[in-house]
Amino acid sequence: MIDTLAPAREITLEWSDDLALDLDFMDDTHREFVDLLAATESADDSQVLACFEELITHTEGHFGSEDQWMKDTHFSSSNCHAMQHDVVLQVMREGLKRGREQGDLKLVRQMAHEIGIWFPQHAQTMDAALAQHLRGVGYDAATGKLSHPEALPAGEIHGCGGDSCS
Ligand SMILES: [Fe+2]
Ligand SMILES: [Fe+2]
Repeated sequence: MIDTLAPAREITLEWSDDLALDLDFMDDTHREFVDLLAATESADDSQVLACFEELITHTEGHFGSEDQWMKDTHFSSSNCHAMQHDVVLQVMREGLKRGREQGDLKLVRQMAHEIGIWFPQHAQTMDAALAQHLRGVGYDAATGKLSHPEALPAGEIHGCGGDSCS
């Protein structure tokens, strides 16, 4: 029998060209992230925690790669972009824990919704600034090599390189 009482699940974020940053290795990861987030939001109660866990695992790789690219191109390890990654991942892990231990699926769904609101502004500010920086120094994510090392700043970068940071 079809369960007509099942709530329609709304998806907060879908991929669009507004999210593209003209850097293939970053855009590919972001597309996967948006897809896994949508899968979490549309999952039924029996699947939502597994989907959210998959999103977290992917996000560990996603943020970890960006943190590595920053390290490879003169960002300080305490720069605000990497710090924001840490905070968001910590909140996601806490949400999964509460979902698992207390069965609080509502919290997990609310969190997925809020991540869908947070992500575009993160991508369009911090990730966009990083993408521009990586393009400027000719960064190759596969090898960590730079084709324009002379474009690197002399000192460490402490902000995220975007307009929102000094
Ligand atoms: Fe990103
Ligand atoms: Fe990022």
